[in-house]
Amino acid sequence: MRPTSSRARQQSLSALLNVMTAAAEKVGRSLVRDFGEVENLQVSRKGPADFVSAADKKVEKMLVEALTKARPRYGFILEEQGRIEGEDTCNTWIIDPLDGTTNFLHGIPHFAISIGLERDGELFAGVVYSPVTDEMFWAEKGSGAYLNGQRIRVAGRHDLSECIFATGIPFKGDDRLHKEFLGQLGLIMACSAGVRRFGSAALDLCWVAAGRYDGYWETGLHPWDLAAGIVIAREAGCIVTDIEGKPDMLANGRILCANDRLHREVGKILRQAKPR
Ligand code: 2AM
Ligand code: CA
Repeated sequence: MRPTSSRARQQSLSALLNVMTAAAEKVGRSLVRDFGEVENLQVSRKGPADFVSAADKKVEKMLVEALTKARPRYGFILEEQGRIEGEDTCNTWIIDPLDGTTNFLHGIPHFAISIGLERDGELFAGVVYSPVTDEMFWAEKGSGAYLNGQRIRVAGRHDLSECIFATGIPFKGDDRLHKEFLGQLGLIMACSAGVRRFGSAALDLCWVAAGRYDGYWETGLHPWDLAAGIVIAREAGCIVTDIEGKPDMLANGRILCANDRLHREVGKILRQAKPR
C-alpha cells in the first residue's frame, strides 16, 4: 500500500478533520523521532521506560496545544492528564497520544495517535494515525471511513472458519479478566482461521474497518483507547458494542467489533466464557 501525502489527504477533508489530521501528523513526526531514540536505548540496562513516559506526556501536551488553538472552547478527556473541562460542554476531545505504548517501548513499530471527538454525547469524529507506516485513518459521522483518502469497508466474510480475529490479552492485575480471556480464546481459536494480538486497540479497530481483520474483541480498555477507532469502524460498516451486545463499551471497556452477521455469532460465543 502506498502512503498518500498530507496534501492529497486533505482534499476530501472537512474543516474538523483537517484540524484533527494536521494535529496527528505534527505529533507523529515527533513520535517517530523519539521512536528512533528508543531503538538506541534498548541496549542500556535501565531501558527506555522513563524516556517513553516523557515522550508520551510531551505528545499529549502538543496535541492539547494544537487542538486548543484550532477549537479553543472544546474540553478534553486525556490518558495522562484526565479531564479538562471546556467552555463548550457539547464538544470533548478523547485522546490517546500513544496507543501501543508497550510496543513503542520495545522498539516494535506498531503504535498510533488516537484523537476522537464526542459531540452532544455521541462519538462524532475520529482520527487514528500510525506515523511509522504513514497510515492515516479518519471518519466523521455520516460521511464514511477513509485510509489515506481511500474509502474503507468492513470485510464481508461470514464463514467463521475463514475469519481472522484481533484481540488483546489482559495485562497483569485482574485475575477474573485473565480467566475470561482464556475461555474466549479457547472458543474463538477452535472455530476461526486465527487470532492476532498486535497491541494497539485503536489500530485493531481501524484494521477491522479496513477489512484486514474480520473482527476484534478485548476487555479492560479505557475510553481513549477506543473513541476514535469506534467512529472509524462504525463508518466502515462495523457493528460496535460491548461484549454483551450493548452500547456501553466506553464505560465498561469491553468491546466487540465485526460485520453485522459475524458480530451476532461471535457475541454469542464470547458470552459463553463470561464468569458466573
Ligand atoms: P496503551 O498502549 O495506550 O496503554 C492493548 O491490549 C491495548 O490495551 C492498547 O490499546 C493499550 O493502550 C491498552 N492498555 C490499557 N492499559 C494498559 C496496560 N496497563 N498495559 C498495557 N496495555 C494497556
Ligand atoms: Ca491506549
